[in-house]
Amino acid sequence: MARFLVEKSGPLHGEVEISGSKNAVLPIMAAAILTDETCEIMDVPVLRDVDVMCKLLNSIGSETKANYEENIIEIQSKNIIAEEAPYELVKKMRASILVMGPLLARMGKAKISLPGGCAIGARPINLHLKGFQALGAEIVEGHGYVEATADKLVGCNVYLDFPSVGATENIMMAAVLAEGTTIVENVAEEPEIVDLANFLNKMGAKIKGAGTDTIKIEGVEKLHGTKHAVIPDRIETGTFMVAAAITRGNILLKNIVPDHVKPVIAKLKECGVIVEDGDDGMRVRGDIHPLISTDIKTLPYPGFPTDMQSQFMAFLTTVSGSSVVIETVFENRYMHIGELNRMGANIKIEGRSAIIQGDRALQGAQVISTDLRAGAALVLAGMMAEGTTEISEVYHIERGYSDFIEKFRALGANIRRIED
Ligand code: EPZ
Repeated sequence: MARFLVEKSGPLHGEVEISGSKNAVLPIMAAAILTDETCEIMDVPVLRDVDVMCKLLNSIGSETKANYEENIIEIQSKNIIAEEAPYELVKKMRASILVMGPLLARMGKAKISLPGGCAIGARPINLHLKGFQALGAEIVEGHGYVEATADKLVGCNVYLDFPSVGATENIMMAAVLAEGTTIVENVAEEPEIVDLANFLNKMGAKIKGAGTDTIKIEGVEKLHGTKHAVIPDRIETGTFMVAAAITRGNILLKNIVPDHVKPVIAKLKECGVIVEDGDDGMRVRGDIHPLISTDIKTLPYPGFPTDMQSQFMAFLTTVSGSSVVIETVFENRYMHIGELNRMGANIKIEGRSAIIQGDRALQGAQVISTDLRAGAALVLAGMMAEGTTEISEVYHIERGYSDFIEKFRALGANIRRIED
């Protein structure tokens, strides 16, 4: 198993190029199932999760050609030979569930191993299945699998009890080939939803309203291949913005969309961090003013992203004053608190709130990365801690951040990867 060793790192400085979005490329790769023509996806991040999605597509009969030097993946789903996402792939990556909508639309059948829960919560898929049923699919669950079948999918109206990102994506992909019009209300508005809708519309779909709380999909007969460059990763962007803040550094981020990180910009500015958007990128400086506390409440987009909660919390342990963080999206996304407290943080959980005491002198310790973003938070804290921080279970980090170590080392971080 690999581990990261992180030493105290002086203020980070320099430039970092943000990669393509993990949470945009995964549903877009699944959407390529909807046509028998070739789709070319550009600006693909080099990630374990992208690899797993390629394997999953290959297992159902799609041909994938990944050229990671050029960050391009070609997918052609001429002959779908199976409509099943097997357990061994789904357990590696929950996002495997995103092939269910496209398979149901293309083949009239999709059988998926039920994704279990994970460190951050139970993560049920009831809203995905609600959408498929509304479109006319029959749903059968058993032996750890769920199967959806439908001779024909018919446009419908469906309301999402929660603006679930995955359910919005899966229902949109199931509805594009349905007969008639589908209206989905209370949908997720994340930039990744808009990117997926743009990709589908380039394939010939007729989707309106992506990025608002209601999406309208007019079913079409057939979709064709297309080319598409995925949006930059807004969570990687936020992670490096917080890296500049926590180390009191000065970093220029390139290939970013400032609009996609508005809440993170606003909250960093409240803490006294300088954020300047220019033609050559966005500069983030934590070295100008003394930094102070603020409060965070995670919400569906355009609220403060849950995927930035743990990284921002690590930062708040180092500023003056106490902060309150409330996680509203996942029911168990505080696993990193125990690990941060092992490093000398003083964070107390009261119900759904976490109270963070500032001005903490963090110490290096042995800690565990419980999920992708918690791992990133521990790396950030390790760069401010006296002594060595040894982080285990770093495969979580490597499945979601491309060239993680290389990018941080190029900014002056004392971090290295060791393999047992
Ligand atoms: C996506 O997960 C992201 N993953 C997550 O990023 C992100 O944290 C999450 O959206 C929220 O923004 C990908 O895009 C691959 P949800 P997803 O469905 O789609 C409940 C990362 O770090 N819910 O919006 O699984 C659910 O339990 C990962 O990159 C239901 O109740 O998130 C949760 O409490 C972590 N029923 C809330 O909605 C359902 O049918 C948000 O889940 C579906 C979801």
